[in-house]
Amino acid sequence: MAVGAVGRVLVNQDELAQRVRALGQAIARDYADANPLLVCVLKGAVIFFADLIRAVAAPLTTDFISVSSYGTGSASSGVVKITSDLSISIEDRDVILVEDIIDSGRTISYLKRNLATRHPKSLRICTLLDKIERREVDVELDYVGFTIPNVFIIGYGMDHDGLYRNLPYLAALDEA
Ligand code: IMP
Ligand code: MG
Repeated sequence: MAVGAVGRVLVNQDELAQRVRALGQAIARDYADANPLLVCVLKGAVIFFADLIRAVAAPLTTDFISVSSYGTGSASSGVVKITSDLSISIEDRDVILVEDIIDSGRTISYLKRNLATRHPKSLRICTLLDKIERREVDVELDYVGFTIPNVFIIGYGMDHDGLYRNLPYLAALDEA
C-alpha cells in the first residue's frame, strides 16, 4: 500500500512556535488561578500538547486520553471509542481538551459529551487545527491555532498510517 509522501509545507516551525506561544498566553490569562486540567487527546496532539503546556505560565495539571476515530487510512470511520481513559477524576475541575485537528467534529463532540457526564466545573476545547470545511457535527471551539483548507495534514504529531508524526512542521500529504 502506498503511504504517500511529504507535500507542501503549510505551517513552518517558526509559525508553529509563535502561534502555540500565543495560545499558551491566552490560556494562562483565562485560567490564572484555576489550576486547569489540560487533557491531551492521544496520539496526534502529543507534540502540540508538549509545546502548549510549556507556553502556559500558570499552574496546571495534565492527563491523557486515547481515542480511536479512524482506521489506518485517511477517511473517517465515524466510529469513536475511548481506548485508554483518563487517570484522574475531572469532577469540579476546569478541563481543557487539547486536540490536534477537528475534521468532521465527531471525535471531539463524542469526547465532550462523554466528559460532560463526569461533572467538570467547566469544559473547553483547544485545537491546533480547524478543518472547518469538513465539519459534519457542530461543536464550539474555544482556542484554535490555525484554520486550514481541506487537505490531509501530516507532521507535528499528525500521522498517515502511523508515519510522519516526527516532522517538526505541518505539511500536506502528497497522495500522488
Ligand atoms: P474528526 O472526528 O473527523 O473530527 O477527526 C478528528 C481526528 O481525526 C483528529 O483528532 C485526527 O487524529 C484525525 N485527523 C483528521 N484529519 C486529519 C488530517 O488531516 N491529518 C491527520 N489526522 C487527521
Ligand atoms: Mg486527534
